[in-house]
Amino acid sequence: MASFDEQCIENYVHRFVPDLIKGKVAFVTGGGSGIGFTITEILMRHGCDTVIASRNLQRLQSAAEKLEKATGRKCLALQMDVRKPATIIAAVEEALSCYGKINVLVNNAAGNFLAPLASLSYNAYKTVIEIDTMGTFNVSKTVFDKYMKDHGGSIVHISALLHQRGSLMQAHAGSAKAAIDALTKHMAVEWGPLGITVNGIAPGPIGDTEGMRRLGGGQEAYITELIPIGRMGRKEEIAHLLLYLVSDLGGLISGATIPADGASWMVGPNSVKEVAQRMMGGKSKM
Ligand code: NAP
Ligand code: COA
Repeated sequence: MASFDEQCIENYVHRFVPDLIKGKVAFVTGGGSGIGFTITEILMRHGCDTVIASRNLQRLQSAAEKLEKATGRKCLALQMDVRKPATIIAAVEEALSCYGKINVLVNNAAGNFLAPLASLSYNAYKTVIEIDTMGTFNVSKTVFDKYMKDHGGSIVHISALLHQRGSLMQAHAGSAKAAIDALTKHMAVEWGPLGITVNGIAPGPIGDTEGMRRLGGGQEAYITELIPIGRMGRKEEIAHLLLYLVSDLGGLISGATIPADGASWMVGPNSVKEVAQRMMGGKSKM
């Protein structure tokens, strides 16, 4: 579990106009840490009020305090488990009674770990599918039913590129994210006529994140060497791409999942022998 050490960007310089999404409200799952925290910060720096929702209320409250202080906007911290519809309904209702609207939904919450397929228990696979895929559906459905079906809005799912090449030790998360990419297309087609755009962002390795700490296998320098642009992504880069998509500038884009990875998914070793040797000293159960 990440510590409560998320920090806002120091000396932030606006490249987009500061009122780009003024008056909007965004609901960000997993907004208390990592990429979700920085997405929330960038949305707030462009005039948006926010809700951050996940399981760990203490961490969310600490994050909300920092975000409000750095941006001058409002951030509501709500406890919710994306696997439990009753908790989602309660959180969405509280958000609506506080702000009266939810214009942007970011499905960022996820769970992952490195594990060879052969060592995944029934419950391990199910847990990741429930958090990532079911969680994305559950929160989207709730926000749709309670607000967006009558008012439109923008939904962005945070996906990944694991399933594009069958990444080793990522069968659980890869299949969860593949389903999310399919959902992006189905939602975009069915909900487009109601004024809702639905897109995905598929990050590659992003520095200084829990995801990278868990999945990098201690091989960050090696992973960086393999990325065609020569560096890992930054949380702010994911956040600014998302800002574009949910602003008027991105109005034409719907049903797309945009890779944000410096072209890394197409390169790099993915053979059992080489990766098992490097990550697990050859002692793999694959
Ligand atoms: P992170 O900081 O661990 O973010 C995951 C968030 O999900 C946490 O805030 C966690 O909060 C929340 N969460 C987990 N289970 C939940 C549940 N059952 N209900 C509600 N919230 C839940 O990791 P990150 O690296 O920033 O990842 C953010 C997103 O980017 C994920 O979708 C991930 O798959 C994607 N991604 C990351 C990378 C990377 O390099 N980091 C690469 C590709 C894709 P609580 O613990 O409070 O519930
Ligand atoms: N390797 C193999 N199996 C693992 C595992 C690992 N590293 N970590 C957990 N599991 C299995 C557990 O053994 C359990 O299966 P079992 O009941 O058959 O033993 C199952 O997964 C569920 O684990 P549990 O710890 O009960 O789930 P949880 O709901 O409390 O937590 C996780 C969900 C496991 C995804 C947890 O890591 C989490 O909360 N992650 C959120 C943060 C995160 O992953 N950030 C990175 C995003 S990219």
